[in-house]
Amino acid sequence: MSISPESDEIKYAKGLEGVIAAISGISFIDGDQGILVYRGFSIETLAKHSNYEEIVYLLLHGELPTRPELEELTNKLKEYRTCEALMPSIRSFPKDAHPMDVVRSAVSLMGIYCPDKFDFSKEIKMQKVLRVVAKLPSIVASYDRIRKGLEPIEPDNSLNHAENFLYMLNGEKPDELSAKIMDIMFILHADHGMNASTFSAMVTISTLSDVYSSLTAGIGTLKGPLHGGANERVLKMLREIKSVDNVKPWLDEALEERRKIMGFGHRVYRAYDPRAKILKKYAKQLGEQKQGDLLFEIGEKVEEYMLEKVGAKGIQPNVDFYSGIVLNHLGIATDVFTPIFAISRSAGWGSHILEYLESNRLFRPRAIYNGPYHQEYIEIENREGE
Ligand SMILES: CC(C)(COP(=O)(O)OP(=O)(O)OC[C@H]1O[C@@H](n2cnc3c(N)ncnc32)[C@H](O)[C@@H]1OP(=O)(O)O)[C@@H](O)C(=O)NCCC(=O)NCCS
Repeated sequence: MSISPESDEIKYAKGLEGVIAAISGISFIDGDQGILVYRGFSIETLAKHSNYEEIVYLLLHGELPTRPELEELTNKLKEYRTCEALMPSIRSFPKDAHPMDVVRSAVSLMGIYCPDKFDFSKEIKMQKVLRVVAKLPSIVASYDRIRKGLEPIEPDNSLNHAENFLYMLNGEKPDELSAKIMDIMFILHADHGMNASTFSAMVTISTLSDVYSSLTAGIGTLKGPLHGGANERVLKMLREIKSVDNVKPWLDEALEERRKIMGFGHRVYRAYDPRAKILKKYAKQLGEQKQGDLLFEIGEKVEEYMLEKVGAKGIQPNVDFYSGIVLNHLGIATDVFTPIFAISRSAGWGSHILEYLESNRLFRPRAIYNGPYHQEYIEIENREGE
């Protein structure tokens, strides 16, 4: 049977809007109420009481760990932090590469170097996910240093995931507040239902491809400015706006030209993204500490004016709006923002692909065919336009 545009047997949802593609117990979004839960725990509770390592366990195993379980997972992550096999490649990458391309390529390379690459057992799949979760901070930090002409730093196993990342990035142990904020950043980005990159990773694993291919697909999808790449663009936009007074004229022109304002809007949320609410608080706190830095003030004005202009359509700040301001205050390079999102989301991608494999079915949608039928084949020498 061919599917034609006239067929009424099928429903077409552009961008798969509203299409249910899987059953999952990992995270839930109530877009009208602005609620996000991981395994039944609200994001606010987790940001307040938990830490990223615990979230990794929660997402992967479905429940909070006991102390020994958490210790075992934390030790595994520490064991996997080093990435000697990848270092010659990371050193050889062009210094002007986008760190997100480095992340994508490095995870793909992990599939080549993994000692268990031909073992497709459930247990080893879980280990492969943990390897990616553990190595991503080292990959991002090492490349950031190498491109600046600095030597990469060995991981410090006395530090937790967030602390160690900042240490490997900056070469000094972070202060308490910076480490806390990075940990919260990791918690907030760890999972988000059936988003584009998670779906992408799931499509890949549904062919019974391997964990690294699947996570590489997720990273490639996250990179785009309509998804995780928005955080980097938000900062560029705020810098371009430059002053609080320029917010209105800048936005008027952008909206007039029907440009998408980065860090606003969401396929699922019509209410304020709960992650943005948490990050806004930290953006404000860090902004107040930095005399003369107007980013937060400009950002707040952008939010205020956007809500006035398009808030009624349900276009509100999303997670990427304030995360850029926070990361900038932590001294992190703009093009490292999306890789930080990837570091965190690797736990979510891993959880979803392992869950999906429990009752796998190949993803294979169809398209409405609107091309021609019954074409007559003309030999090349008889075609016009030679
Ligand atoms: C996230 C996003 C892709 C969701 O898009 P979507 O569900 O496909 O929604 P649409 O693009 O169909 O937008 C619906 C309407 O809202 C408007 N809209 C959505 N996001 C907007 C934004 N960021 N700025 C201005 N207008 C926006 C669209 O122009 C459209 O208006 P119309 O109905 O008058 O044509 C979109 O909001 C966007 O591009 N945001 C900016 C990028 C971003 O921050 N991404 C990170 C998401 S966490």
